[in-house]
Amino acid sequence: MNFELKIFAPSTVSIEKTDVSLVFVANSFESGKDALSVLIAKALKSGDLAAKAGQVLDIYRPLGFAATHVVLIHVAEGSPTDVRKGILAAMAAVKAAKPKHASLNFLQQPSAQGLRAALTCLAESTYLYHTTKSDAEGRSLTQVAVAVPDDTLLADAFKRAVAAVNGIELAKEWGNRPANYATPTHLAGVAKAMTKFARIKVEILGPKEVDKLGMGAFQAVAQGSDEPLRFIELRYQGAAKADAPVVLVGKGITFDSGGISIKPAAEMDEMKYDMCGAASVLGVFRALAELQPEINVVGLIASCENLSGSRALKPGDVVTSMSGQTIEVLNTDAEGRLVLCDALTYAERFKPRAVLDIATLTGACVIALGGVRSGFFSADESLSKALLAAGETSQDLCWPMPLDDEYAEGLKSSFADVANVAGRAGGAITAAKFLQRFTAKYPWAHLDVAGTAWKSGAAKGATGRPVGLLLDFLLDYPT
Ligand code: BES
Ligand code: MN
Ligand code: ZN
Repeated sequence: MNFELKIFAPSTVSIEKTDVSLVFVANSFESGKDALSVLIAKALKSGDLAAKAGQVLDIYRPLGFAATHVVLIHVAEGSPTDVRKGILAAMAAVKAAKPKHASLNFLQQPSAQGLRAALTCLAESTYLYHTTKSDAEGRSLTQVAVAVPDDTLLADAFKRAVAAVNGIELAKEWGNRPANYATPTHLAGVAKAMTKFARIKVEILGPKEVDKLGMGAFQAVAQGSDEPLRFIELRYQGAAKADAPVVLVGKGITFDSGGISIKPAAEMDEMKYDMCGAASVLGVFRALAELQPEINVVGLIASCENLSGSRALKPGDVVTSMSGQTIEVLNTDAEGRLVLCDALTYAERFKPRAVLDIATLTGACVIALGGVRSGFFSADESLSKALLAAGETSQDLCWPMPLDDEYAEGLKSSFADVANVAGRAGGAITAAKFLQRFTAKYPWAHLDVAGTAWKSGAAKGATGRPVGLLLDFLLDYPT
C-alpha cells in the first residue's frame, strides 16, 4: 500500500478521480461555499450524517464529484478512538466496491495521533492474508492519498505512521503464516533480507554456535524437534557506535505444542502465533529501516519449535542456562522463559541502556488483561513511564503489572537453582519473576503479549502488536 501526504483543499475532493473519498467531519466543522462543505452541511442538517463518532454516510457518485464513493465520516472530537470508529464503519460500507484508490480528507488538521490512528486503522481494515491460499489475491487498496490542511506540520507524524503500518504488516504476515511456512530458518531469512536497508546488520547463529555459547536452556527446548533452532541478532546503528543500544528480545517459538507437557488439541493451531514477539522485533526493524532514526537498537530472537520428539526435554530435567543458573523444568510448556533467559544473558554483551523482551508468554496474561492491553513488567521507573506513554501515542496499549519478590516464592526447586514454573496463581507474574533473575545487569522490561498479538475466533489473525508501541517507545525514549 502506498501513502502520499498532500495539502487539503475542498475543491480537490470534488475533482479528485478516486474510488473512495473518505471525508472526516469533526464537531468543529464550519460550512464554506464549496461543494463539499455544502454537501456536509446538508447531511448534518438532515440528520443523514449524525453528529456522533463512527457515523458514516456513503454517497454514490454525488453530483459534481469525480469520486465513485464519497463517504462522510463523523469523528466527533477527532480523538484516535473516534477516528478508528469512523474508518472501520466507512471501510465496512465500501468493502464490496473493492476500492483500489482512496483518499483520506481531513477538513480540520488532525493531531499526530489522529493521523496515526487513521493510517493504521485503514491498513488494518483492508489487510488480507493470502500467502498460503491458491487464489492468491491480496488487498485491493494500493494507493492512498492523505490530505490535511497543513502537511509540513504533520510530515514527521505521517512518515512515522507509514513506517508503523509497514512494520505492523510484516509482523502480521509472519505471525499468520503457518508453522510449516514460518520455521526458525524462515525467520532468519526475513532478518537476513533486512540487510538490504542502510544501517542494518544481521548475524544468524545455528545449533553449533548456540551450543558453544552455553545456551543450555534454549537448546533444551529445541531438542524435541528436528527443525534446527536459530538465534537471530539484528543491529540497527543510527547513532555513534559508542552509544548504548536498546535491546529488543523476541520469543520466537514457531510452534508450541507444549512438548511432553503437551497442550490439549482444541485451538492448538493458534500456537503457530507463539513467535509473535519475534515477529514484532522484525516489524520494528522494518520500520527503523524506513525511518533511519539516530539511535542504536539491537534485536535478538531465540527461535525454535517446542515439540515432543524422542530427544525432547522431560519434566524434571535440569538444564544449565547461559548465565550458569540451573533450571528444573517442571513443565515443558513453560518453554518461552527458557529460550528467553539465554537471550537475556546474551544481551549483556551490548551494555544496553535498556532491554525489552516481547513474548506471548502466558495464558494467565490473557486471563488478566484480555486482548485490549499488553501486560508489562518493569522495576525501572523511566522505562515504565515511557512504555505507558508509547502505548497511548501509538494506541497500542499496555498496562503495568507487579514484580514483588513474594511472587517468586513458588519458583523454588529442590534440584536446581530455580524451577521454570510456580503454581497457577499469578502465572503471568511468576513467569516475569523467572525472567527477572537473568536481567540484573541492565534496566529491563518484559512485555507479555499473549492476549494482544493475535485474535482468536472468526477474525482469527495476527494483530502486529506491539510493533506500534515499541516503535514509539524507541523513537521517544529520552537519551
Ligand atoms: N505460548 C504459551 C502461552 C500462551 C497460551 C499464549 C495461550 C497464548 C495463549 C506458553 O508457552 C505457555 O504454554 N505457557 C503456559 C505456562 C504454564 C505451563 C506455567 C501457560 O500459560 O499455560
Ligand atoms: Mn508453552
Ligand atoms: Zn509458548
